[in-house]
Amino acid sequence: MKILVTGGSGFIGSNFVRHVLATHPDHAVVNLDKLTYAGNPENLRDVESDRRYRFVHGDICDAAAVRDAMAGADAVVHFAAESHVDKSNLGADEFLRTNVSGTFTLLDTARELKVGRFVQVSTDEVYGSIARGAAREADLLNPSNPYAASKAAGDLFARSYWTTHGLPVIITRSSNNFGPYQYPEKATPLFITNAIEDRPLPLYGDGRNVRDWLYVLDNCEAIDLVLHRGRDGEIYNIGGGTEVENAELTRRILRLLGKPESLIQPVRDRPGHDRRYALDSSRIHDLGWTPRHSFDAALEATVAWYRTHEAWWRPLKSGQFKAYYARQYSNR
Ligand code: NAD
Ligand code: DAU
Repeated sequence: MKILVTGGSGFIGSNFVRHVLATHPDHAVVNLDKLTYAGNPENLRDVESDRRYRFVHGDICDAAAVRDAMAGADAVVHFAAESHVDKSNLGADEFLRTNVSGTFTLLDTARELKVGRFVQVSTDEVYGSIARGAAREADLLNPSNPYAASKAAGDLFARSYWTTHGLPVIITRSSNNFGPYQYPEKATPLFITNAIEDRPLPLYGDGRNVRDWLYVLDNCEAIDLVLHRGRDGEIYNIGGGTEVENAELTRRILRLLGKPESLIQPVRDRPGHDRRYALDSSRIHDLGWTPRHSFDAALEATVAWYRTHEAWWRPLKSGQFKAYYARQYSNR
């Protein structure tokens, strides 16, 4: 199978590309990535020489680049996105462009080229905050922030290409991923790396917001399963089944690093901060997936990875990142 992966140089995409090359000797991967601030060639340095892997530097909003990269692909797995909620709260233009217009460009090209499978990688954020119980795939979309709204719009376009054009689209909606190669703007790598640097860990609001944590390698296995055995036109929730309050996650990270809780710095809440996400994942469980990694073991492995990969994350926390950090966290 020849797969076009978009956003393969980002966090989940790079883990997925590595997973596919390691587990499917007969598969080839083309990675189309614009290399935004979140895309990093270092994430896939180890597979660069694999003859089954090809990197294409390009924008998913550029129809000609997309057509070239997609030519001959049996399937598309679409990760490319602006992915950070706080950034979308500061300005959402790029979110609209990439997550909606870019997704449309990919869908339309896939239809033209008659691609056999299109996996739209989406998020539990499209359901909005879940006070009780767990979101099911047929639930109404109720996104709270501009990032989530842009992902919901992409999902609706993807659905429409299935119902109207018969493009074999599948949507995955996963909960919060954590693991190696995550850009340090996100809570887990930010807190781990700040703690290593003995810097404050900025915890939003009362710290009691709940996220359902999913180890990135478990998500890659789920997406792989959906790609090969999912049903056309279906949506699959992918939840880790581990609901943890942010304050508890923060304390666990500090404990794993042997750092004091005095590093926790309560700061003003994120506007529109969803209180809780929770997914009903029975559909993908029925397909044969369940997370293989326990939260405790995966968090320990993740902390160990950032500890031993300072050369990967230290350069990312300089320059542009410092300006973002000052804007995001000053006056909080
Ligand atoms: P990321 O920000 O780490 O990576 C995004 C990648 O997309 C980068 O490599 C970037 O260069 C690339 N990209 C951005 N705009 C592009 C464009 N216009 N053209 C081509 N490439 C472009 O994101 P991530 O955390 O790995 O998330 C990947 C996907 O999974 C996203 O669609 C996101 O919405 C979804 N998702 C993420 C999580 C999570 O917890 N991280 C959970 C659920 C769903
Ligand atoms: O739920 C899936 C989503 O998970 C994905 O769709 C997004 O792409 C991904 O970024 C992630 O979104 P979150 O907003 O949940 O992740 P983030 O790591 O930014 O924040 C996790 C929680 O931690 C959230 O409740 C906000 C809080 N937080 C975050 C940051 C960056 C803090 O308390 N302090 C912080 O500095």
